[in-house]
Amino acid sequence: MRSLRSYKKDIPLKGETIVAGDKSISHRSLIFASLAHGKSKIHGLLEGEDVLKTAAALRSMQVEIKKEDNGSWEVNGSGVAGLMEPSDILDMGNSGTSSRLLAGLVCPYDFTSFFTGDASLRKRPMGRVFEPITEIGARIIARQNNLMPFGIVGAKNPLPISYKMKVASAQVKSCVLLAGLSINGTTTVIELERCRDHTEIMMHNLGLKVSTEKFESEKGIGTKISFNGLQEFSAKEFNVPGDISSAAFLIVAGLLVKNSRIKINNVGVNPLRDGIVTTLIEMGGKIELSNKRLIGGEEVADIIVESSDLKGVEVPAERAPIMIDEYPILAVAAANASGITKMNGLAELKVKESNRLLMIAQNLEKCGVALTMGDDFLEVKGGISQPKDLIKITTSMDHRIAMSFLVMGLMMENGIEVDDSSMIDTSFPTFEKIFADFGCAFEK
Ligand code: S3P
Repeated sequence: MRSLRSYKKDIPLKGETIVAGDKSISHRSLIFASLAHGKSKIHGLLEGEDVLKTAAALRSMQVEIKKEDNGSWEVNGSGVAGLMEPSDILDMGNSGTSSRLLAGLVCPYDFTSFFTGDASLRKRPMGRVFEPITEIGARIIARQNNLMPFGIVGAKNPLPISYKMKVASAQVKSCVLLAGLSINGTTTVIELERCRDHTEIMMHNLGLKVSTEKFESEKGIGTKISFNGLQEFSAKEFNVPGDISSAAFLIVAGLLVKNSRIKINNVGVNPLRDGIVTTLIEMGGKIELSNKRLIGGEEVADIIVESSDLKGVEVPAERAPIMIDEYPILAVAAANASGITKMNGLAELKVKESNRLLMIAQNLEKCGVALTMGDDFLEVKGGISQPKDLIKITTSMDHRIAMSFLVMGLMMENGIEVDDSSMIDTSFPTFEKIFADFGCAFEK
């Protein structure tokens, strides 16, 4: 446990920075580079613990992965369907993305793999990926309620499936797509609500033939993604942009702390990830996206933020999949806005690194914020009563709860203390340093 404190100091955030690489794109770069023919280079890889777990798992399947002196990573790919049986249990740490993506990746192989994770991950639902994996023909053995640890006895004759998604989850979608890469025949995924599409973008960018058709579904705009397995592809240079989910903590800090003006360069602004920017602009946030460009098929921009007076808004449920990781920090913005912010469609937050819906609500209440929590919504009444004492925040092994409340502390006269900041290293190892560079160092 590594506790950390932050206080209201009214030191404006000024200047330029970059955030660590996008977590989703980093996992996928390592995975696709491992399946390519030849040596790929990855620039800007997030060196967070989650991504390093994916790298370690791929290494244990005999892929050579190494960091070079210039900070880039080199991956010597084994070719599609070229992985070897892992010789030990795959430890996924805190990473749901590693677990679900790699479970898909290994299920068509005629070998057996075992997965485990930390106390947080061992509580998270894995049944959502066991369903398609079993249809493909692999066998699963898991703890009750489909919890980790689990083992996958890979399919001897893997079947290409057509899978209709039940939850808007890019991890489930990517599980099926990654499995399909090494299955003979056409794999199809039908999603009723669109969620992050980094896997599909990477497939296109690597020259794989993939068809993506949009259609009107009962939940809005859906997508049908189809492709033939066993398409070989060559090594490539991967450029990972900054993570908008990490930038979000700086964006909100820049909006809330008076007289701030910051620029965050080279941030991924994929339209299926930018719901937080849309929402904060609706709240009155002065946020500008400049120098928009495409890198590796992904939209990238520099983000300029100026402190602003925020007002409450209603965030529609349809937006949840495109800002799913940003509700903790949005709730902090809402607590410091005028009026009420209602966030809808939050059921998935209950199965993140913690029960995030509950952790946001309980911790905001400790900060003197009035709110109503429902089964899938949160209504926050802006305004902090400034409690007289230091507020102690329970993070429940959740990096985003820790970072959000450290930003909240910048608005609290008597400060906040998060019980454990160590999980921040899973996704944003440079978080503390960036805030320190802006003059708002957190205190031990
Ligand atoms: C991710 C998808 C999201 C997100 C997670 C990363 C991914 O999870 O919360 O941080 O890289 O595919 P779900 O797909 O379960 O919503």
